[in-house]
Amino acid sequence: MAPALIETPIADRSVDETAEEIRKKDANQGAGYKEAFQQGAKTTNYEVELKGNEKHKPAKYPNYLPYWDDFKHAPLEPFEAIEHGKDADPTFPNLLANATVKELTGNIGAEVQGVQLSQLTNAGKDELARFVAEKKVVAFRGQDFASLPIEKALEVAEYFGPSHVHPASGAPKGFPKVHLVHRSASDTTAHDYFQERTNSITWHSDVTYEMQPPGTTFLYLLDGPVAGGDTLFANMAEAYRRLSPEFQKRLHGLKAVHSGHEQAAAALARGSIVRRDPVSNVHPLVRTHPVTGEKALFVNPQFTRRIVGFKKEESDFLLDFLYKHIALGADFQARVKWEENTVVVWDNRVTAHSAILDWQDGHRRHLARLTPQAERPFETPFEG
Ligand SMILES: [Fe+2]
Repeated sequence: MAPALIETPIADRSVDETAEEIRKKDANQGAGYKEAFQQGAKTTNYEVELKGNEKHKPAKYPNYLPYWDDFKHAPLEPFEAIEHGKDADPTFPNLLANATVKELTGNIGAEVQGVQLSQLTNAGKDELARFVAEKKVVAFRGQDFASLPIEKALEVAEYFGPSHVHPASGAPKGFPKVHLVHRSASDTTAHDYFQERTNSITWHSDVTYEMQPPGTTFLYLLDGPVAGGDTLFANMAEAYRRLSPEFQKRLHGLKAVHSGHEQAAAALARGSIVRRDPVSNVHPLVRTHPVTGEKALFVNPQFTRRIVGFKKEESDFLLDFLYKHIALGADFQARVKWEENTVVVWDNRVTAHSAILDWQDGHRRHLARLTPQAERPFETPFEG
C-alpha cells in the first residue's frame, strides 16, 4: 500500500525555525525571486574593510565601500533614449584600431586588450555601443576605471544614457548612481546561503521591472577572490533564434509583467532599505534591438511574473519552459573571468547573466556597476 501523503504543518518544517525566520525566508523565496547575494549594512564589516585585521587586508578601494542612506528617491521619469550605436562605423576604427580581440565562444562574448575605455572619443563610444550589442558581452582588460575619480567613470557611462539609481543596493558615499556588488572579507553569508539552497544561479537581466531598463552596462572589478566569482552570460538573441519559427510566431505579441516588489520585500526582510517605491512594468516577451534589429527573449525568473492574458497555469508553463531553455543553453552562454583592471561591458537588452557564488568565505569580492538606462523595450513585426 502506498504511504499516505502527509502534509507537514508549517511550524514543524524545522524545529529550529522561528516564525520570524520562516517569514523572512518566504519573503526571499516567493514568486521565483532568489537572492544569493544578500548585502546590507549589517553584513558589511566596515571595521575590517577599512582597517584590515590579522586575517584580511583592508579594501583596495575604500572610496567604493557601500553605504545605505535611507533618503527616499522620487519615481523614475520617462525620457527619450538616444541610441548611440546607430551612429557607429561598423568597422570600429575608433574603438579597435590598436586592439586585440579574442572571441570567448562561437556565439557570445569577446575579450579585448589595447583599448582604454576612459579615453574613447564620442565616435569610439558610439562604436563601443554597437560592438557590445553585436558581441553581447565584452571583457576589456587593462582598464583604469577603478582608479579614476568616481565622477569621471560616471561621465563615461552617462554618454550612453542617464544612470539608473538602484532602489536597494549600497552605493559609495555621495554617489547613489553607482551600484555596488560587495561582500566583506569577513562575511559568512556564503556558508549561510548554502544551508538553504543547492546553487547560487540567478539568471536575470538587470532591473527589468523599470519602464526603461538599462542598455550598455559597465561592471568593473575593484577587489576579488584569487579564483572564482566569475559571471555567466547568456545570448538572449541566440536563445530566441534556437526556437522554431512556429514557436517564435506564438511568442510574438505576448507581453509579460516584470516586478520589483519581491526584490524590495527581500531587502526590507533582511533589514536593508528601499530608496524608491517598487514598480511593475509590462514589456514584450520578445524585444528588438534598436541597432542590430535582432530579436531577443526578454524574460527572467528574477523579475518576470506572468504573461498578460494567460491563465496562471498557462503562464507558468510557458515561462518555465523559457527559463529552462535559457538555463540549459550552455551552447549560447559564456563565462567571464574577472582579473584586476577589468571592465566588463554588456548589452542588458540582449543578454541575461548570473553571478556565481563558488568561493569560500574569507575573500572579499567588490565590484561597481554603472547602469545607463535605455529605451522602453519594443518588438518589431513578426517576419517569420
Ligand atoms: Fe545583475
